[in-house]
Amino acid sequence: MKYFLFCLSFLFSITAFSQTPFKSEITIDATQKGQEISPLQYGQFIEHLGRAVAGGIYDEHSTLSDSNGFRMDVLEKVKELRTPVLRYPGGTFTKIYHWQDGVGPKASRKKRKNLIWGGVDDNHFGTAEFIVYCRKIGAEPFLVVNMATGTPEEAANWVEYCNGTTDTYYANLRRKDGFENPFNVKYWGIGNEEGAEPDMGRHQDVDQYIKDTWQFVKMMKLQDSSLKLVLVGNPEDLHWSRTVLARLGPVCDYLSIHLYSIPADTSFKSLIQSIDRIEQPLTQVDSLLTATPINVENFSRWYRFPARSGPIKIAVDEWGIWDINSGKGKGAYGLEYQYNWLHALGVATFLNLFQRHSHSIGMATWAQTVNVLAPIMSDSAGSYRQTIFAPLKAFRDYVGKYNLPTQTTTHESSPGIKAIDAASSRSGDSNQIILTIVNRDVDHSAETVVHVKNHQLSQQRVTLKQISYTGKSLYSVNSATNENTVIKTEIKKNVAPTDFKIMLAPASFTVIILNGLQ
Ligand code: AHR
Repeated sequence: MKYFLFCLSFLFSITAFSQTPFKSEITIDATQKGQEISPLQYGQFIEHLGRAVAGGIYDEHSTLSDSNGFRMDVLEKVKELRTPVLRYPGGTFTKIYHWQDGVGPKASRKKRKNLIWGGVDDNHFGTAEFIVYCRKIGAEPFLVVNMATGTPEEAANWVEYCNGTTDTYYANLRRKDGFENPFNVKYWGIGNEEGAEPDMGRHQDVDQYIKDTWQFVKMMKLQDSSLKLVLVGNPEDLHWSRTVLARLGPVCDYLSIHLYSIPADTSFKSLIQSIDRIEQPLTQVDSLLTATPINVENFSRWYRFPARSGPIKIAVDEWGIWDINSGKGKGAYGLEYQYNWLHALGVATFLNLFQRHSHSIGMATWAQTVNVLAPIMSDSAGSYRQTIFAPLKAFRDYVGKYNLPTQTTTHESSPGIKAIDAASSRSGDSNQIILTIVNRDVDHSAETVVHVKNHQLSQQRVTLKQISYTGKSLYSVNSATNENTVIKTEIKKNVAPTDFKIMLAPASFTVIILNGLQ
């Protein structure tokens, strides 16, 4: 059987490469500084949903866990993603979450039914455990408050518990729990998908959301005026997003939108179409932000805290591939998927899309980190990285500080699908230009000519590093017993910095790094 699979994957790569390559061109405009790419674009999300927290990042009873109860094997993999920001505790789960259930001595924490996602939560992983986890992985914590069954006062008390420095009840409660110094949580979401009718929310009406949110904002900002607030938008309901921006704009730092790819079937075409289609709502929300004044005028001093400063950005605080139609997911609500190689190409396409919108996207957190729609899977014996781990890590590791305008000339590999998808960036010191390219033609390799417009580039040759990622086959998946279906290769060569040619394997994503430009 093993031999048969080997022959099959060998045949796949041989046939793919023996087809005539197609030609494409990429032009990078490096005459401009480019738009800053927020490093927070490479964040993650974790929710009390199925085995994401309990049995995922946290398992007190496992021999694989440390003294905090954190699964060490999982932690090592999360660390590899170099997550800059981690969102918690939901998601829809926030609608039933009361933060006080998850603080204090573990033995006296209340067990609660998880009314949203099923099961029982013993609340042994709560605020302090989340903060310690963030510190271990080097991520900024991002908390979301319950505005469905919670109150503005409860949210403000949570702010005091986390950030309070005075001799007051909730700050002292944190001290009593063993944390003298404040947690300094900067990012706070108020609500989650509040327009979603089937969920436990009470804000399907945008006017009601705005009225209630004002109360939350006031109470929370009076506790700590430096908070950065993430308020609920809706990429499918522009009226909702426009109204939130118009009426809560003075206190909104980020407008939350959730962008899931939900392919119609298991074909690559539907997957890519579902991601390419996201460009439209994203562009529409971009335009709403452009139309929102950057400066806030006449903000009453009687609010007793300052208005937002700086432009409002988008927080894509949930994104991912929700392949519900494959019907193959396990666990709670079938959300434990196996992601194949094509999904990894989908993730790379998504990340290029976000990079191109870096002028407006201030933050993005992949939903979710472990077991649920996740790049990392675990069971009681160990854990492994799924195929989608590769693009999440590669983009975080290699993409530069400024996005550069990039144009692509390519054919359609199937009607409506452009074969080549590309984005490029410049490093902070301008020494490097980094290109991230997805060849979405699964049958043909691409012979791609890259032009770099830059009047400052000398004609001397520079080093080009090409890091290519392919799958063993289009539908190959990693598993607990085989984590090696993603093939990474590296080559280096010297090229002229303004024009050079590269070959891209079929169904691949590639990082090109031009080094030594100055
Ligand atoms: O990520 C899973 C769920 O998807 C989240 O709880 C919810 O916000 C979204 O619809």
